[in-house]
Amino acid sequence: VRMIIMGPPGAGKGTQAPRIKDKYRVCHLATGDMLREQVSKKTELGRQAKKIMDQGGLVSDEIMVNMIKHELENNTECKNGFILDGFPRTVAQAERLDSMLSPRSQTLQHAVELQIDDGLLVSRITGRLIHPASGRSYHKIFNPPKEEMKDDVTGEPLIQRSDDNADTLKKRLSTYHDQTGPVVGYYQRTGIWRGIDASQEPGQVWKSLLGIFNDDK
Ligand code: AP5
Ligand code: ZN
Repeated sequence: VRMIIMGPPGAGKGTQAPRIKDKYRVCHLATGDMLREQVSKKTELGRQAKKIMDQGGLVSDEIMVNMIKHELENNTECKNGFILDGFPRTVAQAERLDSMLSPRSQTLQHAVELQIDDGLLVSRITGRLIHPASGRSYHKIFNPPKEEMKDDVTGEPLIQRSDDNADTLKKRLSTYHDQTGPVVGYYQRTGIWRGIDASQEPGQVWKSLLGIFNDDK
């Protein structure tokens, strides 16, 4: 499968995408996770990206497009397809993605939007805990780890993202509506867009996603 999953901060992209990855054995490319990896490695890109991420802005299209291009070309997990989480975030990125795929005679099959009111996102974001190395996310209340502040798989410590506070969230939401909102229209015009209700519990959201895949057959 070749698809993208989009939606505002806290909609559940990072919660649902690994399930799709496991089901279809495709790569899960989460641009936010990739940027956070650069931040933790203290690279020059990481240093620049951290400033932007903590302000709720967007890293440049050029950088993001190259990052995705590199993965699609070199990551062997992407051979069977991919799920993109957090990319494209601008119409320019969406256009560049199409021009990456067309020389290989590939097209996107699904652009799924996780739809949810902004008001529900504050509690999701402020309660989130992540395992930085894997990108796995938990929630203090909605999805607590088995052991307090520890990753279920590795037992390593969980942390809070530096952009997961109410102030930065406000900016991330307005950036999403201004810059990423138009991407919805882009995929609606190509006919691959589907919206699903992301305010339901994770298991229910997953069922809605499966419904979209079943419609293929
Ligand atoms: P990114 O990491 O992509 O952040 P985001 O888009 O703000 O999305 P989140 O990761 O916050 O939300 P999510 O939908 O993954 O939610 P999750 O499943 O974890 O990007 C970070 C930054 O990097 C951007 O702001 C930007 O600066 C930069 N960037 C990244 N990509 C870029 C690009 N392409 N171009 C330019 N800049 C880019 O769930 C959230 C919480 O809710 C968790 O605690 C989870 O357990 C819980 N939860 C999930 N689902 C449910 C549910 N159904 N019910 C209850 N709780 C739930
Ligand atoms: Zn995420």
